[in-house]
Amino acid sequence: MSQRRSVKIAPSILSADFADFGREIRAIEDQGADWVHVDVMDGHFVPNLTFGPPAVKAFRRHVKTVMDVHLMIAPVDPYIEAYAEAGADILTAHVEAGPHIHRTLQAIRGAGMKAGVALNPGTPASAVAHVLDLADLVCVMTVNPGFGGQSFIDMTGKIAELHAIIGDRPVHIEIDGGVDPKTAPKVVAAGADVLVAGSAVFKGGSVDDPEVYGRNIRAIREAASGVWA
Ligand code: DX5
Ligand code: ZN
Repeated sequence: MSQRRSVKIAPSILSADFADFGREIRAIEDQGADWVHVDVMDGHFVPNLTFGPPAVKAFRRHVKTVMDVHLMIAPVDPYIEAYAEAGADILTAHVEAGPHIHRTLQAIRGAGMKAGVALNPGTPASAVAHVLDLADLVCVMTVNPGFGGQSFIDMTGKIAELHAIIGDRPVHIEIDGGVDPKTAPKVVAAGADVLVAGSAVFKGGSVDDPEVYGRNIRAIREAASGVWA
């Protein structure tokens, strides 16, 4: 939201053990994750392939918080219903994925989900200015999407611009890519309230050593807290 409020941490399971998603999801939630971020890639919009609707549906059985599904696919519209049936709470589509983001956001809400719109690093904040009343979340990519573990690209100016144009609307600003305790304070100071983090949450831990996830989540939360004080 544009309002100053508590920061949510959304670990990306792209950095989890792909042979053990159920336990990984339960571990991050037990260790303090606010949302679970699921990165869907199609090998076309981005140069990597991940999860289709049946996999996402299987994750749903383990998610007790909020399943935040980030579609890096094109086209989007033919798959909206399938991800609704899979149990996504929030479905985010890229503004670059097609010519009709307005229709896409309407369709996502029409299917009973919260609607998100994501912006690649090269896309200006103004690209979403006319769909903010149809969106519950704007995701600012701070890496070029496709892979976890990439270096943070500073998008502070874009985040601040978005924060200003969102105004009083109840729209989350989510940051995705290279978020860690060093980069989190910057993006929160600029107006972000949801932080996706893959490698910074999962690094050093495992389902057999989940306290590490808890420490990593707390390190990001603590770095981000107090920024708005
Ligand atoms: C990138 C994905 C991100 C990614 C974040 O294409 O959308 O969610 O997994 O990973 P880290 O935090 O490792 O940059
Ligand atoms: Zn993502």
